[in-house]
Amino acid sequence: MSATLRLEPLGCVLPVAEGQSLLEAALAAGIRLRSSCRNGTCRECIATLEAGTVRYRVDWPGLSPDERAAGCVLPCVALPEGDVVLRQPFHDAAAPASMP
Ligand code: FES
Repeated sequence: MSATLRLEPLGCVLPVAEGQSLLEAALAAGIRLRSSCRNGTCRECIATLEAGTVRYRVDWPGLSPDERAAGCVLPCVALPEGDVVLRQPFHDAAAPASMP
């Protein structure tokens, strides 16, 4: 099942392919979000999920129960379960997308 990602405050809507993380979907669209480890450990990519739900690629992403309850997500390992809205104010839409 594919989904869409609405990225705020940019306001753009991006497709998310099956098995693609929210970070990967943004990069594929040429939007570089803040990130580092890309495995759910460093928390550099932390953002707020404003609508929708996600599941994680890893068993224990680096979020506390309180952070999860507050809507915090780690886009590098978050897979959408349907359409989602993510707020990540730190982005560079002008830079080319790159994956290591
Ligand atoms: S980039 Fe490190 S937790 Fe997402």
